[in-house]
Amino acid sequence: MVVLALVGCQWGDEGKGKIIDYLMKDFDIVARYQGGSNAGHTVVYSGKKFRFHHIPSGILYKDKMAIMGNGMVIDCDVLKNEIEELRENGFNCKNLFISDRAHIVMPYHKQMDELEERAREKKIGTTKRGIGPCYTSKVERSGVRVYDLVNNTDISGAIEAAENRVKSFGDNISVDREGIERYCKKSRDLLKPYVCDTSLLLNEKIEEGKNLLLEGAQGTLLDIDHGTYPFVTSSTTTAGNAATGCGIGPNHIDEVMGVTKAYTTRVGEGPFPTEDHGDEGKHLLEKGAEYGTTTGRARRCGYLDMVILRYAKRVNGLTSLAVTKLDVLEGMKKVKVCIAYEKDGGEIKEIPVSFEGCKPVYEELDGWEKTFDISLTPNVREYLGFMEDTLKTKIRLASFGSGREETIELE
Ligand code: IMP
Repeated sequence: MVVLALVGCQWGDEGKGKIIDYLMKDFDIVARYQGGSNAGHTVVYSGKKFRFHHIPSGILYKDKMAIMGNGMVIDCDVLKNEIEELRENGFNCKNLFISDRAHIVMPYHKQMDELEERAREKKIGTTKRGIGPCYTSKVERSGVRVYDLVNNTDISGAIEAAENRVKSFGDNISVDREGIERYCKKSRDLLKPYVCDTSLLLNEKIEEGKNLLLEGAQGTLLDIDHGTYPFVTSSTTTAGNAATGCGIGPNHIDEVMGVTKAYTTRVGEGPFPTEDHGDEGKHLLEKGAEYGTTTGRARRCGYLDMVILRYAKRVNGLTSLAVTKLDVLEGMKKVKVCIAYEKDGGEIKEIPVSFEGCKPVYEELDGWEKTFDISLTPNVREYLGFMEDTLKTKIRLASFGSGREETIELE
């Protein structure tokens, strides 16, 4: 039996969906522990592209269980589209289980996300999916849980609290009560077949000796505690929450795998020391098709940053790594890797609380024309070896394309 938590090491979009899809052959269950429709995983299966925002990509294995854990926030309209797309392609979703304790993104949460972002002097660049406001309601204890919706409990207190929040943006602004009623009614019918106590289910499966993969969304630097605050998402994306967000004991987690791109990207605002505005950044954007799955925004692109990866190892307790999109670096004569930051005349090797004045210090490695040719080509091996030596962490998987067959396991 193995329980593996999988986390993003950077600012999200590391290709976790693809790695999960690959790993699932060795797992019985996949459970997602935080976030909501701000996430977007694209998985190519039998030549068809599936875009997941809530449902763990492991759903594509019909004999495995896909669980949406209590730490998630669920937008029922988006979920409905995901379920419908799966059904149209022959997946009946009987292997989907949704926690009764997960929170619901209500229509007013999206309204608040818009209003709050508009009012901010320093924009965060949120996905406008209502994520921050929904987690705020949860912590404020005026949230609506899956249980509440399915059992038609009285949510007038939640609506009252929401009304007060939106009114603070202007006396003429209010929540759409009829819209809320419609949303609740259709969401109730949508959720009902899938709802259960997923913590109980997972613990039973662990006792039976099943292999469990815990799926993180976003990435380490978007974590509400450990990320580049305030330019972060509103949940704990790091491995500690894999236990809480699924309702299992932390002592069950055997391994933590970090996923990193072979370079770095970020969407939205906030610091990004290795961002490249020149030709190389453009190369990564175009060749890497770096456009958000959720919002379609062009991602900011730059070089690999080992300071970030070292930090990701520390705050997640990484036991292994998966490196994705190695092929995107093809055609670059030299590949830069940031190994430290220069600040106030000194060099720092740990992530600072503020990035102000931090300039990347680079080392240059030889680039490559082709990533894979019977096996990984020599300069790619060199690059991965450099990462392993710097991090003192084993790279288990290397990926160089979108298909399942374009991932290899390293000895
Ligand atoms: P929110 O999660 O919509 O509140 O957005 C907060 C920040 O996290 C913004 O910079 C978003 O662009 C970023 N973000 C949220 N989810 C993802 C994701 O799945 N990938 C990459 N960035 C994300």
